[in-house]
Amino acid sequence: MDDSAPRASRPAPDGRRRMSFMQRLRANLPFGHGLGISGKDVERLVNDSGADLWHVHAITRRNFRRHACVACDWLASALPRDAAIFEIACGSGANLLWLAQKGFSRLYGIDIAPQAVRLSRELASLQGVALNVRVDNALSPSFGEAQAGKPGVPPVFDGILSLTWLYYIPGVELAEFLRIWRPYLGQGGIIVFEMITRRYDSIPNNQYHTDDWGLPASRRRPSEYRMRLDKSEVQRAAEQCGYTHLRSLRLMTIITGKPEREVHMLRRAPDA
Ligand SMILES: C[S@@+](CC[C@H](N)C(=O)[O-])C[C@H]1O[C@@H](n2cnc3c(N)ncnc32)[C@H](O)[C@@H]1O
Repeated sequence: MDDSAPRASRPAPDGRRRMSFMQRLRANLPFGHGLGISGKDVERLVNDSGADLWHVHAITRRNFRRHACVACDWLASALPRDAAIFEIACGSGANLLWLAQKGFSRLYGIDIAPQAVRLSRELASLQGVALNVRVDNALSPSFGEAQAGKPGVPPVFDGILSLTWLYYIPGVELAEFLRIWRPYLGQGGIIVFEMITRRYDSIPNNQYHTDDWGLPASRRRPSEYRMRLDKSEVQRAAEQCGYTHLRSLRLMTIITGKPEREVHMLRRAPDA
């Protein structure tokens, strides 16, 4: 396991995990998650696929996306290497590629953008990795049905990853998302995602889109950060939807105006 991974955090009597100060510090340091793909290759493949330029940043500056790194570390330490892992809104597949480098081989993902799916396939082929990625809408997924009966595709997954997309979608609630994806998790399966915390509510101009902060107020669009939830709210939604909240970590925000992110890990609770 790489050096930035939070190792062997102490299980509390209830099975939940607590991180030591050193583990929390390490989780914030930008190491251990590079993909070893050259910037030139990334730019070429992003351009060729027509995918959003954001993916160049997500891949080449991956070490600085600590929420993604922590979420992947948690999955990698919680699951055996033969676990089936599924990423919702996987974009370029960078998180799945990192998991592949850590020895996981049953890796699946969906994204609504065909260009992103094309990019993830190209990157996977560049790295000699097998990813099963396809176009699908994470708010009304057909992945299970479309794949049913195909060899090698599990009906449910051991781990699900969901990063940097849900809170941008207007009108969606966390509980709705958790209910949609619960049937795709096997008994005891885990889901890891990150959330913008309510601390962002107190940042000046937080109600406006960050790209519009320099414009007159009348011309600004609403904030891109539509959903902001604190831990207690995530815990409540988890309980209502048949999950146990296992752990969470608030990441440090050094740049003023950037939203604070908190990574959460839930386990599918047994059916009532
Ligand atoms: C900011 S990117 C994050 C990609 C990836 N999760 C990561 O962390 O690198 C957001 C991704 O969410 C995808 N997306 C947005 N809405 C979606 C939906 N309803 N279903 C599936 N994917 C969606 C976008 O196409 C985009 O690739």
